[in-house]
This record gives sequence, structure tokens and C-alpha cells, in this order.
Amino acid sequence: MALRFFLLISSILAQQPQANTDESKAGVYTLPDPLVLAGGMPVRDAQTWQRQRRAEILRLFETQVYGRCATPPPRLEYEVTGTDRKALNGLATRKEVTVWLTGKRLGPKMRVLFYIPNERKGAAPVMLGMNFNGNHAIHADHAISIAQGWMRAGKGVVNNRATEEGRGSEASRWQVDMVLRRGYAVASIYYGDAFPDHKDGLAESILPHFYKPGQTAPGPEDWGAIGAWAWALSRAQDYIEKDRDLDARRVAVWGHSRLGKTALWAGARDERFALVISNNSGEGGAALARRNFGETVERINTSFPHWFCANFKRYNTDVNALPVDQHMLLALIAPRPLYVASAQEDLWADPRGEFLSAKAADPVYRLLGTDGLAAAEWPGVHDPVRSTIGYHLRAGKHDVTAYDWEQFLAFADKHLRKR
Ligand code: GCU
Repeated sequence: MALRFFLLISSILAQQPQANTDESKAGVYTLPDPLVLAGGMPVRDAQTWQRQRRAEILRLFETQVYGRCATPPPRLEYEVTGTDRKALNGLATRKEVTVWLTGKRLGPKMRVLFYIPNERKGAAPVMLGMNFNGNHAIHADHAISIAQGWMRAGKGVVNNRATEEGRGSEASRWQVDMVLRRGYAVASIYYGDAFPDHKDGLAESILPHFYKPGQTAPGPEDWGAIGAWAWALSRAQDYIEKDRDLDARRVAVWGHSRLGKTALWAGARDERFALVISNNSGEGGAALARRNFGETVERINTSFPHWFCANFKRYNTDVNALPVDQHMLLALIAPRPLYVASAQEDLWADPRGEFLSAKAADPVYRLLGTDGLAAAEWPGVHDPVRSTIGYHLRAGKHDVTAYDWEQFLAFADKHLRKR
């Protein structure tokens, strides 16, 4: 009996190795060099990066990490509803835009909520991101439609469905009024519209709608939830290009945590996104996979088997075999401005590993003629860096706060110039 109990406990521990949070045990590792071609030749100029190396790295992330996304429908099928030019006491124009993700009106759809500042000169730059708790959670505004479909436990969620009670429950993470007063439009999408975030969410996601004839399950290189979310953000960009109130060439895509991973992948894939913000994105986001600190590849693939492509699981016990690391994801965003935000107590996301990853993307940013990440060492708390790769370490926990937004806006003011 005692032996069986011992074996049971040790097998559970073996499945769930303790996450390391001791800097002295983060290990030594060698990162793959973003500036060496697969064939071994160094990348010495911007053209070789743009024409060859960037495509090689993108393909590796597609086949080994996030999976390949579907080809978008040939025509964007959408409908604008609920336009109110006097929303939020006249501060903004509110629109809700339904986008049919497979191009067919009977198929799956997402709803994009926009607030566009009324006080503006010309088309507004946009802060685009996904939310965890429904569009109605980002602001207490009573006119926002309540999100439909599966929702994870949270304020106002009853039997995995959103209710009125959840209105405004995620507002502190969005700071809608602050963003509008600074002249930016806010665009938000409930992430569950593209892929309900649980291990059996696939069936209700958009993925089966893109299966090839005869296909019944995703192949090893097919997209998972992060791919579906990132792809949906690109469909929002498609809509933004059609709306004259919005400046499609000044869209910042941002996200927190798993949605920060999503924003990075969206920005890496789709060069129309002018600026990318990762907030506490951690493992599978900005943090280096090879550094043994906080969450690991094995842990993330075990807890969230639906997030990445099936091939990614091959690296669970041998992360050094990965042909990429996350600094190369950041490098795919170059030379576009990129902001990486960490939080001091968010050890699970490895704040230092997020900085080191941004630092390791710096040579690519410099090759492309920018100032890269202008910090030699990991900056202290509340000491933001605003070079083309920006960074800050905030005091406190895993979250998005007003402090974070003040930094995002200062960074965007500096880098999201009118083109
Ligand atoms: C978990 C997960 C992280 C993720 C986070 C979140 O903690 O392990 O990888 O970033 O959830 O999305 O909140």
C-alpha cells in the first residue's frame, strides 16, 4: 500500500516537474543565431534577412511551434451594427462589427468592438487586442453586446456562458477612457469567438471549417488556438482597412499573457501590424524557451495541449532541439517597433527571460537600421526603455495596469508615426 502510494506520488511529480524560480539554476544554453542562414552562411545585409532568413524562421515557427494558419477567405464578409457617435458621454464613436471568419454568413463569426475617439484629426491609430471575458467586460458601457459562446469561469459567468454581471469586469486591463483621450481607437475581440480556450475547444473553433476534404483532425503542422486567435486579429486588420475612421497603417496589436503570445505571433506573421505589444506573455511568448525559469515547454504543452501545433510537443523533454527560440519570434517583427512588458512578481512568465529574448533580437533590429533595444542590462523596476524595441519591468503581479498603459501609449506616441 505504502509503496503504491509512493509510486503514485512520484509519477504525479514526474508529470508535473516543479517550475524553477532560482536564477542560479536557470542553466546555460546556446541560442540559435537569427543571423545565420539554415545552410550556415551569415546574414550580413537587410536584403538577405528580408528575402531569405525571415522566411526560413517564419516557416520554422509555423511547422514546429504555432502551426500553419489557414488561407483567409477571398472576400471579407462583415456587417457594421450599433454605431453610436455619442458613446461614453460623447468621448467616442462605438461600433460593433461582425466578421464572418470563413467568408460565409452561416459560418462562425467574431464580433469586433470599436471605440473611436471623436476628438481627432483624420483617421485614428488603433490599439487592437483580444479579451478574455467578452467585449462587454472591457468597459461598463451598457450598450456593448454580451459575448456569446463558451466562456471560462469568471465574474458573471454562469454555466460557461457570459451574463450582464460580467460587464466591465476586465476594464482595468483596457483603460478605454485613457486610451481614447490620448487619441487612439480601441478595438477588442472576445478570443473565444475563434477558439474556445479549453482542451476540447477544437470542435467549436474555426479550425474544422478549414479542414481539407476527408480531414478529421489537425495535422502535426496545423494551427492550434494561438494560431486561430492570431489569424482572427489579421481579419480585424482586414476590416480596419475598409473603415475610413481608422488608420490601417497605424495599428498596434497588443495582448496580455496567452493573448500576448497571440499578439506576438500575429505581429510576426502579418507585417501590416505597425507595432506590437507583449504584456507578460512568458513561455511561448517573449520569454526564452531554453532558459529553465518559470513555465517550461513541457508544462505549457501539458496544461494547454490545444494552444500550439502537435509538432511542438516533440520538444517537451528536449528544448535544445528546437530549431528556434523566442528571440527569433521577436526578430520576425523587425524593424517594426516592439514593446515587451514584464512584471516583477510574475516569475511564472520569466521576466528576465523576456528581457534577454528582446536583447537577443537586437542584432536583427540593428541590421535593419534601427536602434534595437537600447539597454545593456536588465532595467530596474519602473525604468522604461523606449528604443525601437521597448521594455519595462513593472512592480507587482501578472496583470495589465494603468502603469502599463501609460508606457504603451508613450511608446506608441514615439513610434507610431503617421505614414
Ligand atoms: C497560464 C499559462 C501561461 C499563460 C497564462 C495566461 O499561467 O501557464 O502560459 O500566459 O496562463 O494566459 O494567463
